[in-house]
Amino acid sequence: MIVVRKLVKRFGLKSVLRGLDFTVQSGEFVAILGPNGAGKTTFLRILATLSKPSLGEVSIAGFALPAQAAAVRRRLGVVTHLPLLYGDLTAEENLRFYGRLYGLTALNQRIAEVLKLVGLYERRADLVRTFSRGMQQRLAIGRAVLHDPEVILFDEPHTGLDQDACSMLDNVLRQVAARGRTVVMTSHDLMRVSELASRFDVLSNGVIVASAQRAQLAPDQLLAFYRQAVQQNNPLNPSLEGEPQKEGNDLP
Ligand SMILES: Nc1ncnc2c1ncn2[C@@H]1O[C@H](COP(=O)(O)OP(=O)(O)O)[C@@H](O)[C@H]1O
Ligand SMILES: [Mg+2]
Repeated sequence: MIVVRKLVKRFGLKSVLRGLDFTVQSGEFVAILGPNGAGKTTFLRILATLSKPSLGEVSIAGFALPAQAAAVRRRLGVVTHLPLLYGDLTAEENLRFYGRLYGLTALNQRIAEVLKLVGLYERRADLVRTFSRGMQQRLAIGRAVLHDPEVILFDEPHTGLDQDACSMLDNVLRQVAARGRTVVMTSHDLMRVSELASRFDVLSNGVIVASAQRAQLAPDQLLAFYRQAVQQNNPLNPSLEGEPQKEGNDLP
């Protein structure tokens, strides 16, 4: 579903992605882990057609990026740090705008479904600029799944959400995965990721340095797997500054 070969992304003279290889089969749920500054957001933005590769090949659902970005975009549901919503429209109007863009039929019904899914149905007629950051994030998640996309790309989607909203998001992700959709998500929360993803990839110094299937890794081995992958590729930084935060008591 996603094929990336020798991807390089430079900002000026600085190479952030350095020959990254990455393949995702249809229906996989891949969590991308990595220290701050590893290039996770840069990588996801390229997959999301929001940024162009400097070198290398990227294709999604058989369409090459950046050349066939429009075809790819229709198949994607994206959540990034920016909610990309219209503040002067209501929650409902925002979804209607995107739904029309995607040419969805039975739109009113789908909008109501999605608003309930993300817990905003009661607030559907309120202007988005009156929403808290967490509520905007909820709506951004709703917008991303509105057209039931084949591929979900979520960058740190739990960030800024309260416990309720995190559970809602996990539900949405489980539903999406159960429908056989493909998910690529970055996260700082190893515990949440360990319960959701089917595969864990570690991005460090601009390449994927390790990959493990959930079936091969017990939840209590994930932190050790992550640490070892980062440390091996960061011999000068054994302090692991910026490692994903653990939450709860499940991890050692
Ligand atoms: N638009 C940009 N211009 C210059 N440098 C950038 C830009 N975007 C990201 N970077 C740099 O790329 C590196 C990786 O950033 P990012 O992809 O945001 O990392 P992560 O999401 O893993 O924390 C950082 O050093 C960051 O400063
Ligand atoms: Mg990031």
